[in-house]
Amino acid sequence: MKYKANTKRYEKLIYRRCGNSGLLLPPITLGLWHNFGGKNSMPSESKKMLFRAFDKGVTHFDLANNYGPPYGSAEANFGRVMNSDLKKYRDELIISTKAGYDMWPGPYGEWGSKKYLTASLDQSLKRMKLEYVDIFYSHRFDPLTPLEETADALAQSIKNGKALYIGISSYSSKQTIKMNKLLKQRGINCLIHQPSYSMINRWIEKDLLNTLKKLGIGCIAFSPLAQGMLSGKYLRSIPKVSRISDNSSLDKKMITKSYLFKIKELTKIAKKRGQSLPQMALSWVLRHQTMTSALIGARTVKQLDECLDSQKNLVFTKKELKNIDIYAKEEKINLWAKSSND
Ligand SMILES: NC(=O)c1ccc[n+]([C@@H]2O[C@H](COP(=O)([O-])OP(=O)(O)OC[C@H]3O[C@@H](n4cnc5c(N)ncnc54)[C@H](OP(=O)(O)O)[C@@H]3O)[C@@H](O)[C@H]2O)c1
Repeated sequence: MKYKANTKRYEKLIYRRCGNSGLLLPPITLGLWHNFGGKNSMPSESKKMLFRAFDKGVTHFDLANNYGPPYGSAEANFGRVMNSDLKKYRDELIISTKAGYDMWPGPYGEWGSKKYLTASLDQSLKRMKLEYVDIFYSHRFDPLTPLEETADALAQSIKNGKALYIGISSYSSKQTIKMNKLLKQRGINCLIHQPSYSMINRWIEKDLLNTLKKLGIGCIAFSPLAQGMLSGKYLRSIPKVSRISDNSSLDKKMITKSYLFKIKELTKIAKKRGQSLPQMALSWVLRHQTMTSALIGARTVKQLDECLDSQKNLVFTKKELKNIDIYAKEEKINLWAKSSND
């Protein structure tokens, strides 16, 4: 049976303005990095997640050229759903994609050249069966390509109607300022920055958040649950169905004694607030005024629902924040630090 969206979908979430732009985004965005790949179709649970998210007011889906596995399959699978069930809702959706990491072999299949970014966006549009994406990102800072060239490629995507807005991901504060200036010189505003950020990965608090505020750029925090580490799932053992067991982007070496201690203590604080730890982790990310959206991944509709329910309690007392700060300390989990350190 064909999907029909919930008529009450806009009654649930409070949308947030993205920097100084005209664009409002949902406080929770669903990303398709994991769980949406596969050769000919996405898992049925993942398709259900797309519908459930939209039914609850999540208007933003985040993709990238190489999400899968295999590379490109998350976009292709999303394109199939887009072309059938979601087509009539296209104007209600914000769809983003990115290019920057390895996508195809040879010297033009990654990083920040005009050659790569232009070809990659064309491929993404074909896979997703879209005429344009809402946001096109430079997925990582490229230390060897002149930033002017990357800015040219991004600006060109707007000028030729293939993207509406531009974003950057995992750029340092310094490179963000530089890219913002280069885009402005080309008549384009940088809409949004997508950094990693969570209770155990707080690098953006040093200077990036302030920079974004000053420049009027929005912020969407990816991996706000630290890829699932900000939940109780790893307290006893490694569950058979979990990102660590998938042998992908999370390593069991990350489950350290210091990490487990933090999780136990943070769970107690969350409980006192009437939330689960994942819910508190999301409310906490969204406590910054500059934060436009928390960009989650989910494996099941149940997880997605739990995450969306974080919106029922977004207020923190000073005492709660102070207590959280005792345990919300860095673990070595920032896989994207290289890009933001350059
Ligand atoms: N720009 C970039 O370089 C970059 C990099 C990474 C990600 N991203 C974007 O950010 C999105 C989110 O990243 P992420 O998947 O790492 O985010 P995340 O929300 O931190 O982690 C998602 C994982 O957390 C677990 N989870 C979710 N809800 C849960 C719940 N209620 N209870 C317990 N566990 C729960 C699940 O793990 P299990 O699978 O173990 O159940 C799920 O797969 C990606 O899809 C992508 O769009 C961007």
